[in-house]
Amino acid sequence: MGATTIVDPLRISVIGTGYLGATHAVCMAELGFEVIGVDVDPSKIEHLTAGEVPFFEPGLEELLRKNLESGRLSFTTSLADAAAGADVHFICVGTPQHPGSNSADMRYVDAAVSGLIAGGLRPGSLVVGKSTVPAGTAARLAAWLSEQAPGVELAWNPEFLREGFAVDDTLRPDRLVFGVAPDGTAEATLHRVYASVIDAGTPVVVVDYPTAELVKVAANAFLATKISFINAMAEVCEATGADVTHLSKAISYDTRIGGRFLHAGLGFGGGCLPKDIRAFQARATELGAGQAVAFLAEVDAINLRRRTRTVTLATELLGGDVTGKKVAVLGAAFKPNSDDIRDSPALAVADALRRAGATVAVYDPAAIPNARRTYPDLTYADNAVDAATGAHIVLHLTEWTEFRELDPNALTAIVAARTVIDGRNTLNPAQWRAAGWDYHALGRP
Ligand code: UDX
Repeated sequence: MGATTIVDPLRISVIGTGYLGATHAVCMAELGFEVIGVDVDPSKIEHLTAGEVPFFEPGLEELLRKNLESGRLSFTTSLADAAAGADVHFICVGTPQHPGSNSADMRYVDAAVSGLIAGGLRPGSLVVGKSTVPAGTAARLAAWLSEQAPGVELAWNPEFLREGFAVDDTLRPDRLVFGVAPDGTAEATLHRVYASVIDAGTPVVVVDYPTAELVKVAANAFLATKISFINAMAEVCEATGADVTHLSKAISYDTRIGGRFLHAGLGFGGGCLPKDIRAFQARATELGAGQAVAFLAEVDAINLRRRTRTVTLATELLGGDVTGKKVAVLGAAFKPNSDDIRDSPALAVADALRRAGATVAVYDPAAIPNARRTYPDLTYADNAVDAATGAHIVLHLTEWTEFRELDPNALTAIVAARTVIDGRNTLNPAQWRAAGWDYHALGRP
């Protein structure tokens, strides 16, 4: 074990060690705190304790090992240990879409709070919610805590981390949002926790609970809307013969619009944007403000239509019937540099074609083990060339760098037909066409 260097005696617990929680625990230890990470899943805890990150996140494993070595970071399945042993408790559990409705499933957040209460939270300690929750949750939990654990405060500190950039987004965030109750000490405690991040120039926005909760969903709703806006333009481009990639570039030079999240293609997926825009509508409707976010239903519909459009285009290019046709799918993760397949557009398209009778071979650099568990009926290949062997069509559906670097000439001899759909608009059409491929893309002639 290396030497322990604790920069601040505040002890931190992190409840839930998924993408968000594992990253947060490691980064809090990196900032110099003593940190205990808690999860109900013993296998996650075993992996983390052994220095292994149970998901794909560049840079996280090195930092995990370094902080385990330092002795500042440990993991447990015992919420009681965390409750009694730490001063600040970050709640980082999931709030997935509720089965059978659009609202967020709050059972894991509620279980975390009730576990902390049962474990004996100490008066003077602070519970900090990071999970994305419906507006009103923090007030409800604060009331619960004041009844069951007097002297314990609650704050809401939403996270904005992107998978694939999780460490950087945690240690060098764009902004920190502290949702606090008036007259408490939570703001001062959060300033202590994030002292070095704030000293580095990160802006801090201090707000009330509902604003903090809404900041997160509003940010994700805006990002989803921006993507669906450009994908709606892609639909119009398809109807007019225009090219959405040029359209997007041209409007992006207007700094009021900007070019980020304006990339047209198969649309968004993942564990956040789709379920967050649905939960936002559900909650706003409950609060009588449903009309204000009714447009998010259209944002969702535009996004899902890109998947249908890709399936329809592939079917057309295969002669109207996919039965017995071999389809190569490049990409399974919902985005590159991730092994996350939650609501993956690539797998939704792959599975729709399989259900229609095609034989679908999927290759992804990181997400195959996860994809295989959820979609056991798809076929999986060890590399892009194997997936493409004998294929009647190649679908590029997640924009990993290695796909952009594929040489279309190298695939020419092994496919049954040189037809490609670029679902992410990142392949070079001139290069593919020069190699004799019939190149199609979403939103481009
Ligand atoms: C998102 C938010 O960015 C993050 O701030 C929040 O905390 C969690 O949700 P993440 O789900 O990791 O993060 O993915 P992100 O990088 O935002 O991408 C979301 C989806 O949009 C991906 O499927 C991506 O392929 C797609 N996308 C993104 C586009 O289709 N076009 C774009 O221009 C940008």
